[in-house]
Amino acid sequence: GKTGLPAFRIGQGWDTHRLEAGRPLILGGIRIPSDFGLAGHSDADVLFHSVTDAIRLAADEGYRLINIDATIVLERPKLKDFRDAIRESLARATGIAVHLVSVKFKTAERVGPVGEGRSCEAQAVV
Ligand code: C5P
Ligand code: MG
Repeated sequence: GKTGLPAFRIGQGWDTHRLEAGRPLILGGIRIPSDFGLAGHSDADVLFHSVTDAIRLAADEGYRLINIDATIVLERPKLKDFRDAIRESLARATGIAVHLVSVKFKTAERVGPVGEGRSCEAQAVV
């Protein structure tokens, strides 16, 4: 376009946090019942951090967010009952419609730090 910027760009974000007993498990702003949670200096919200990294600086460069597609990799607990709450929370935080927010959940098949229940990862594409 006139600005020299492409009309359409994709952003990608990734984050990881350790899991610790007694910490709250907060994903996309939603508190998930669990006896362990995400550790870190901040709220350790691994999903929000992956999403904000994917979006970072987009508005400064004149872009507008259209959709989010994110994946959380966590061995347990099961998150699927919280899918809509997490989608609504991300939609509210980013100012887009909930039907344009996708959140998926995967285990790591008991392999590696995520699979051993020591950490959680999130990836986001916008
Ligand atoms: O990782 P896997 O393919 O075995 O996940 C199987 C199912 O479990 C998927 O439908 C996924 O959404 C769900 N799941 C979940 N919470 C997790 C991990 C997976 O609800 N922490
Ligand atoms: Mg983080």
